[in-house]
Amino acid sequence: MGKVFTHLKLLLIYCFIIPYVSFSQDTNVEGKINDIISKMTIKEKVGQLSQFSASLNPSLDIIKKGEVGSFLGIRGAYIINQFQKAAVEQSRLSIPLIIGSDVIHGYKTTFPVPLASASSWDTSLIRESARIAAMEASLDGIKWTFAPMVDITHDPRWGRIVEGAGEDPFLGSAVSGALVRGFQGDSLNDLLSLAACSKHYVAYGAAEAGREYNTTDLSERSLREIYLLPHKAAVDAGVATIMSAFNSLNGIPASANYHTLTEILKSEWGFKGFVVSDWNSIGELINHGIAVDKKEAALKGFTAGVDMEMIGDSTSGDTYPSNLPLLVAEGKIPISRIDESVRRILRVKFKLGLFDHPYTDTAKIKSIMLSREDRDSTALKLAEESIVLLKNNSGVLPLSNNIKSIAVIGPLADDNTDPLGPWANTPQPERVVTVLNGINKKFSSTVKINYVLGCSISDDDTSHFGEAVNAAVNSEMVIFVAGESSFMSGEAGSRTNLNLPGVQEDLLKRIYSAGKHVVLVLMNGRPLTINWEKENIDAILECWFLGDQSGNAVANILSGDYNPSGKLTITFPRSVGQIPIYYNYLNTGRPPIEEDRFTSKYLDMPNTPLFPFGFGLSYTTFKFDNMDIQKQKLGKKKINIVSIDVTNSGNMPGTEIAQLYLHKISSGVSRPVKELKGFQRIFLNPGETKKINFSITPGMLESYNTEMIKTIEPGKYDVMIGGSSDEVVSGSFEIVN
Ligand code: GLC
Repeated sequence: MGKVFTHLKLLLIYCFIIPYVSFSQDTNVEGKINDIISKMTIKEKVGQLSQFSASLNPSLDIIKKGEVGSFLGIRGAYIINQFQKAAVEQSRLSIPLIIGSDVIHGYKTTFPVPLASASSWDTSLIRESARIAAMEASLDGIKWTFAPMVDITHDPRWGRIVEGAGEDPFLGSAVSGALVRGFQGDSLNDLLSLAACSKHYVAYGAAEAGREYNTTDLSERSLREIYLLPHKAAVDAGVATIMSAFNSLNGIPASANYHTLTEILKSEWGFKGFVVSDWNSIGELINHGIAVDKKEAALKGFTAGVDMEMIGDSTSGDTYPSNLPLLVAEGKIPISRIDESVRRILRVKFKLGLFDHPYTDTAKIKSIMLSREDRDSTALKLAEESIVLLKNNSGVLPLSNNIKSIAVIGPLADDNTDPLGPWANTPQPERVVTVLNGINKKFSSTVKINYVLGCSISDDDTSHFGEAVNAAVNSEMVIFVAGESSFMSGEAGSRTNLNLPGVQEDLLKRIYSAGKHVVLVLMNGRPLTINWEKENIDAILECWFLGDQSGNAVANILSGDYNPSGKLTITFPRSVGQIPIYYNYLNTGRPPIEEDRFTSKYLDMPNTPLFPFGFGLSYTTFKFDNMDIQKQKLGKKKINIVSIDVTNSGNMPGTEIAQLYLHKISSGVSRPVKELKGFQRIFLNPGETKKINFSITPGMLESYNTEMIKTIEPGKYDVMIGGSSDEVVSGSFEIVN
């Protein structure tokens, strides 16, 4: 009982006390803020609400006049210290600037893209990668990152799927909290910390047809049970800022949505940081058709709850600086509302220590940050853990020690740019270990490596096919490295066709006909409809874009030096026609029955995915059994404990990711057939068994009832635990009133 109470106490501290401690209103700071605001002119106040990009070629004059509070797009301690000097030493009130940047998956060290690192399910390593990114960015004068991107999506046509943690709100929330804690450290005031920014608020990933910037229309239930959850996790982790999104949300653009920005975020959740718009997303309210001009756009965005405008480039121009003073003068915006937003921004600047230490002290940061080697080894470890083994027939992997020759073929084999993925902040291709580099380093002392490019990623040139097939014929086996370019995903990277682009599959089929074992190494920013490959190719590694250490990670997997442990956090469809397809679907009134036409299915394809959420193979095998549910019946406020034995039933040490799913069998509202509610990474030696426990807390059983009130409904709950969403051991328990 004592243990359970401690557990619950920690839970309460984590959820309800730390956020306010980490982002509470420190009375001393609030007093200073009040004092500053009392001295500010309206132009200086609106200046704090304005973020300029470097593309506007800002002069130091505007800084000295105190008419800008933040910049993005500038980097380097020297230049940033110059800008900061103009603000702190040459403006009337010496308010420091806050410099922001998209530090999404690394700064100088490029880590795997977020969809890759989420596949590691290793939240502590993900947190460490964010910490390293924060160190490197701080050294360059950056103090604010526009990350984590926490958008949940069910649509792999949408290019920004690469930037998030996939389709599940529970996993997405765990990753969101880990990234915020990594970026912000134990204290925002730390020289190595960045203010984080949970984006894009909210439901940007629900874009219709997976088309970038497109309309989203969803129920309040979906909003609260899916899309808001990772943002709430960020707020609970003490995130300093939130970025409002481009998309229209139920008819009201997210950057002018009072319900989400003020009623939920600021009132219901008590968020004390500030909201920044996305790039010109206030000005775009005109295109959305809810503002006739920039003045109305500024009025609607600001009053909805967007505190700071991220101004676009010179073509789009600004809305806040030119219009908020007018709107105040006309009485359309009370000065108290302006002051509230200024307060939020100054609060973050105080928490960051910008008033106490505004200048970047590179010598001091260099003396306390991790070494290059330590940063690289974290990048390698995360890259290894991000790789998902999708297929491994006839034990082709790990590669045998007796192999004498390997053909390495494909457009991404020796590519040192695309593996950095979209949003690489400071791409340094010269630092990237390509797959070919990695394979040469690992194997060339005993194996002859025959490299042929074979084809490009996207054009239709087949003139090098012969050369590639020859290499395959003259080698014992083939490693084919294919996928997407990094521009085929990320922002404005939507695709309607999810096959391998260009002639890559044609070349692979020609190579396949040579009759050698083939390993497909995929580097891509989204699930791909690789049906033929799954059917015919011996082994498939989903590597996503792994960053600097790509080649070393792939080589370590190929050799077995690292036993793959990654699990998919996004469903792979067989066809675009199945989208949206995800694991936590509703059962419908007519679940599919093979022999019954009149059930929920297609005429031409099974409902099942190509690869399901949570799936990933290992070089060993794992067994789950002896599930024990502590209480078969319990009250809704009690904690239940479910235990299960996990055994390494193969002959290699390896890590399994045990996933806990729950399902409310009958409820006032249809519930998903299963919902991820916990996961644990377990390392096991061959033959070893570990009993693991999952606590099932009341919070895990909560859902919104028909009146949209969060409740725990009495009745039976299925419990499922396994190494993939489609391979679980089941049990059940009952909640009695
Ligand atoms: C972009 C993105 C946003 C990014 C911002 C600044 O349009 O939507 O994620 O942080 O502009 O680069």
